Amino acid sequence: MSHLLSGTRVISFSSGKGGVGKTSLVANLGSLWSGKGKRTLLIEGDWNLGKLGIAMGIRPKWTVSEVLEGKISLLEAIEAVGENLYLLASPSGLVGFEEPDESSRNQLFFEVEQLRDQFDLILLDHSSGLHSSVTTFAAAAHQHVIVTAPEPTSYTDAYAIMKVLSAKYSVREFWLMVTMSHNQPESGKIIEKFMDITRSQLDVRVKLLDIFPWEPRLSEAIRKQKPFIDLFPQDEFTRRLEETCNKLDDFPVIQSHGLRFFYGVAPSTAL
Ligand SMILES: Nc1ncnc2c1ncn2[C@@H]1O[C@H](COP(=O)(O)OP(=O)(O)OP(=O)(O)O)[C@@H](O)[C@H]1O
Ligand SMILES: [Mg+2]
Repeated sequence: MSHLLSGTRVISFSSGKGGVGKTSLVANLGSLWSGKGKRTLLIEGDWNLGKLGIAMGIRPKWTVSEVLEGKISLLEAIEAVGENLYLLASPSGLVGFEEPDESSRNQLFFEVEQLRDQFDLILLDHSSGLHSSVTTFAAAAHQHVIVTAPEPTSYTDAYAIMKVLSAKYSVREFWLMVTMSHNQPESGKIIEKFMDITRSQLDVRVKLLDIFPWEPRLSEAIRKQKPFIDLFPQDEFTRRLEETCNKLDDFPVIQSHGLRFFYGVAPSTAL
């Protein structure tokens, strides 16, 4: 049985390949959503190389490692970044915490469950790769954004992560986001073909969120440690990020089987 979701919505951003723009997207989309009045939590799911704090211009006092050590609760580790905007940071380069083991993952999952109804949105900014610390958390999200750069190695990795999430965790619905495109029409043709192959080979539903152009001012925003949308609020790129928020908001989230965050409380309508 599947259900329409109400309550906290969890959106996962993953890619397989690194450096394709996930963190930049999460920082900017989170800022936009919080600006619209949605209580938004950003989670640095890059458990030992968190960079969201840098992108948002804050130096977090606590990280998930203190939560896992039992020093503080997850709620205490969450820091306000702005109005309606919060960050759960991860440590950077902490020896012994390279990848959370199964019991740490279970503990973190349990702790996130305690956040039920504290936030309207939770955005998971994953690391690259296909290891369990990415896939177990990604699989438990309600919406899945797969980010890819317009190059063969990146498409291959995007395909691989969808294959793992669908085969192992029964995730059936994905949004694709192409970033860093130097040629929109060409990227458009390739991504359409890629989506056709993915649908036929993996038995999943795939929709295109957008094809974002190469935008050098995103690096400038990281250097200034401010979200792009705050530096360039009237820019076309900001407008397209707003459209991305709207697309994700407008699409009904189906609570399906498998291990999902906040399952059991969120459903309002049986389908
Ligand atoms: N559309 C874009 N055009 C140009 N540069 C971009 C674009 N999106 C992101 N970048 C830049 O690419 C670099 C990597 O971006 P980001 O850290 O967001 O990627 P990531 O997928 O989170 O990487 P990682 O896998 O290492 O976590 C940053 O310097 C960022 O400013
Ligand atoms: Mg990142």
